[in-house]
Amino acid sequence: MEVVRTGAALRTARARLPGPVGAVLTMGALHAGHRSLVERARAECRSVVATIFVNPTQFGPAEDLARYPRDEAADLALLGAAGADLVFVPPVEEIYGPGFATSIDVGPIAEPLEGAARPGHFRGVATVVAILFELVRPERAYFGQKDAQQCLVVRRLVADLALPVEIVVCPTVREPDGLAVSSRNRYLSPAERTAALALHRALAAARDAYLAGERDAAALRRRIGEVLAAEPLVRVEYVSVADAATLTELERIGGPALLSQAARIGTTRLIDNEPIG
Ligand code: PAF
Repeated sequence: MEVVRTGAALRTARARLPGPVGAVLTMGALHAGHRSLVERARAECRSVVATIFVNPTQFGPAEDLARYPRDEAADLALLGAAGADLVFVPPVEEIYGPGFATSIDVGPIAEPLEGAARPGHFRGVATVVAILFELVRPERAYFGQKDAQQCLVVRRLVADLALPVEIVVCPTVREPDGLAVSSRNRYLSPAERTAALALHRALAAARDAYLAGERDAAALRRRIGEVLAAEPLVRVEYVSVADAATLTELERIGGPALLSQAARIGTTRLIDNEPIG
């Protein structure tokens, strides 16, 4: 596995790789979710390129960029074991050069849910993803369903800018007890870790109600809210039952929908979702 840190070195190394090239873009702090993306890319592509870049423009002023976990040696070990051929680990100035001023706004899909809770977040994501796609030039790129809105933002970006990359969305990886794996889980105390299971329980309860025939979106939101409210350490930020393609809040479920939620447990903010229909 080769590790490069400049755009020029990336282009040289990328040119030697046989296609199709699959890309997995990350901010490091890698876990089983990232590993599953790299393994899927490995299974479906002849070459795999991963990136590790903690993107400052997707952090809000109140979000602690400096606190974001960084462990390059562990990340490279995971990527090597999962089968990456090439890893791009640029410093900030390699991505955002002097006078950098362009940003990409993908419109309404970036506005609700995470977009409302984290103003500017998806502008930062869309901008860095476009830059990384241009540098890596993958034929396919692999993203996790856990960040469902990010997947829709990236699909919009790729469609609108006619970027020649196929987006592959892979299932959320969960711990055996149902907690979605996340770089942020490491911040949870044992009591908070137990409380965090309410997120998955809430989604499962709503999904079960849907499978039992419930089609009223407000009833499904209530079901999620009740399960979360029963856990005193959980502070709910939002509960959503939305159209899976547009993220518009629904009154009734008539097609593919997304159950999603964000909550704080102590100082840790967690998100999770479940597609239905
Ligand atoms: O999902 C992430 O880790 C980031 O948002 C991404 C896609 C690597 C862009 O910085």
